[in-house]
Amino acid sequence: MSACLVFGDLLDFTEDPGGSSAAPAVRHTPDGALWIVDGHIRARGARAAITALAYEAHATVVEHDHRGCLVLPGLIDCHLHYPQIGVMASWGGQLLDWLEGYTFPAEAAFADVEVANQTAEFVMQRLLAQGTTTASVFATVHAHSVDAFMAAAERAGARMLCGKVMMDRNAPAALCDSVASGERDIPALIARWHGRGRLRYTLTPRFAPTSSPGQLALAGALLQSAPGLHLQSHLSENAAEIAWVQQLFPQAADYYAVYEQHGLTGPQAIYGHCLHLNPRERAAMAQAGTAIAFCPTSNLFLGSGVFDVCRRMDEGLKVGLATDVGGGSSLSLLQTQAAAYQHSQLAGAPLPPLRGWYLATLGGARALGLDQMIGNFAPGKEADLVVLDGATIPELAWRLARAERLEERLFAFTMLGDARCVVATYLLGRLAHRQR
Ligand code: GUN
Ligand code: ZN
Repeated sequence: MSACLVFGDLLDFTEDPGGSSAAPAVRHTPDGALWIVDGHIRARGARAAITALAYEAHATVVEHDHRGCLVLPGLIDCHLHYPQIGVMASWGGQLLDWLEGYTFPAEAAFADVEVANQTAEFVMQRLLAQGTTTASVFATVHAHSVDAFMAAAERAGARMLCGKVMMDRNAPAALCDSVASGERDIPALIARWHGRGRLRYTLTPRFAPTSSPGQLALAGALLQSAPGLHLQSHLSENAAEIAWVQQLFPQAADYYAVYEQHGLTGPQAIYGHCLHLNPRERAAMAQAGTAIAFCPTSNLFLGSGVFDVCRRMDEGLKVGLATDVGGGSSLSLLQTQAAAYQHSQLAGAPLPPLRGWYLATLGGARALGLDQMIGNFAPGKEADLVVLDGATIPELAWRLARAERLEERLFAFTMLGDARCVVATYLLGRLAHRQR
């Protein structure tokens, strides 16, 4: 049995705090301690009391002293494309032109196993440097691109979801699979990776325009082929995309209906963007428990639109936060939160500071259906943590010196923070990244 204590200013959520800072949705323990046994949370509370309990129970306890720093549950990125890390910051074009001009060529390079292996390791390390401990990750159409990312995640010890992109039409031939190849390759990937350690497989049809009805039906059938499988795709991101879906699927009432008709909805499913949903789509998604990955930097970068995050959450939709690299312009969920706030201002309903941090932690865990395991410091949960030190960024430190209330301090981290203030990241109670 291995035991450790993490000291710091502890913050986590038990519910969506909405617009309020009221307990019990928010738990804040200044000068607190987390007691971790075999990688799982045993207890949290005031430092002196928890320390005494831990030393009563164990002969040896490792101490990680982060007093003066914020200690939060590991951050959760609900949607990113690891093969697109080199596509970030590619100028011009909205979604469909950007896919053709930048993204498809970059993904085609993943035919080379070495490109996949090196990129996967780089992205995995950079995620940890941002304090991101779980992500829902698109690979490319190549099965070995999933092997590369899953292997990197396994080496790191991170809880990760990943899947092979499915697309069998309206894409370059070199990036197309088929129903037959999917029937062969995807069950093999599921057998190899799903449920191995902390890894899970997520069915990944890219989006309706690049899948035939037969391929969408295959994705729906495979989703039922083993317990605990997930599904990710894109929905209602861009006006030209939505018009194209109407053309391709004239019988469907709307875009979301295409996914409904193929069994691709429900609590295991999460869709990126969802910017232009109609009232029927919103009500149907809330009813089914289908989640939204809010991708604020990507929505701005590709000029896709503004997401009204608070109203969507208040309508009962499950929402998580996502970088959507490489449409997104940062791997940092702090910078992503800052963009989320800017979206919410344009939408006329500003995202409250605590709600932003909820989205990056427990909200993301719920959106991915992983909240039994991660997302807060409840006893028994996996001890993935991020440690934030405001002193690492001069402008942030200056602002924090003038901030009194918890909300003010958290909002300063949201708006002024980035990977520089992530001083340590822990996976299952083990140090996985430490800033030099
Ligand atoms: N829609 C279909 N594929 C993609 C992609 O790779 N990125 C984004 N942002 N939207 C998509
Ligand atoms: Zn995406």
